[in-house]
Amino acid sequence: MKEHFENQYLDSFNYWKRISKFKMRILNSMLIYYSIFMKKMVLFVAFCKLIPLGILTYVLLPFFNRKGRRFSKRLNKIWFDSLAIVIQNASEESADFMNYGYLFQENINVEDIQDTPRNMYLHIASNGGSVNLSGKSLLEVGCGKGAGGKLIHRKFKLEKYTGIDLSDEHIVIANKGLKGNEGLNFLQGDAENLPFDREKFDIVLNIESSHQYPNIGHFYNEVKRIMHPNSLFMYVDFFDENEISTCESAALKAGLVLQEKTNITKNVCWALEKTSETKTLKIEKGIPKFAQRFIKEWAGTIDSPLYEKLMAGNRSYIHYVYTI
Ligand SMILES: C[S@@+](CC[C@H](N)C(=O)[O-])C[C@H]1O[C@@H](n2cnc3c(N)ncnc32)[C@H](O)[C@@H]1O
Repeated sequence: MKEHFENQYLDSFNYWKRISKFKMRILNSMLIYYSIFMKKMVLFVAFCKLIPLGILTYVLLPFFNRKGRRFSKRLNKIWFDSLAIVIQNASEESADFMNYGYLFQENINVEDIQDTPRNMYLHIASNGGSVNLSGKSLLEVGCGKGAGGKLIHRKFKLEKYTGIDLSDEHIVIANKGLKGNEGLNFLQGDAENLPFDREKFDIVLNIESSHQYPNIGHFYNEVKRIMHPNSLFMYVDFFDENEISTCESAALKAGLVLQEKTNITKNVCWALEKTSETKTLKIEKGIPKFAQRFIKEWAGTIDSPLYEKLMAGNRSYIHYVYTI
């Protein structure tokens, strides 16, 4: 009897879950079509949604307990889904990479602002060219809109690339134009609960995404679970001073063995300096004035607190290579 009621409850729960997912997709599609006709209006509405969400996610929720963390992951997802729609509509060009970028030397000319995040992918995935990725299977966690995955799959001749991201909108964009691209696969999923039962990967890649995971220990446990003894975990993110030792201890506790650790803050700052002027112009042209400061922080222009923190050494950009 009890089982019957439980099953009935589960059936209706799954039914409503499916319906609400369907409704969200219709809503998102309507937003996109509507925006073609009333671009500015949509941007305004989306920003009105984004700003309180941003404040809630990044300022208030870290003070709460585990429930708050779970809630913050949900908000994070809404945040990235909405941001993808805003960016898609605000800019004529694609902005498919979403990391702060990497420059090998200070005075390199940058023609396209997407070149520095491209460099980040090429540098981190191959560990500065020292790892041969040809014929390997690679899982990228937090793959964003898939631009990095497509790049490294082609460049390094991977046998198989799988990208996972929390945002449905990012996965929709990543899956566009995939015809003929054998061996590339993008899925919606959560870094703290990876959707693989038995599969193991030769390389696990994570670029500038882990700072958004409410429980970093869960992520490291999941990474360890999908690695085999010869796998490599190529990992890069920014960390505030007090986070470095906490994260390193959590990785150790999960069974990850540190092979290399490089502070690449200066390479990231060089990239931010070289791209700041172009980003500022784009933001000032395409984004409503009241939201410009907020988006500049997200883009890391040189007048943003993010850049100042990196320059002052209060926040570091660190590249790790782990095995198990
Ligand atoms: C700053 S973007 C970086 C994206 C990409 N790695 C790049 O460099 O272009 C961070 C990405 O992490 C994703 N993300 C955040 N939390 C996640 C989670 N729990 N699981 C998987 N992806 C997540 C976001 O949706 C976003 O696409």
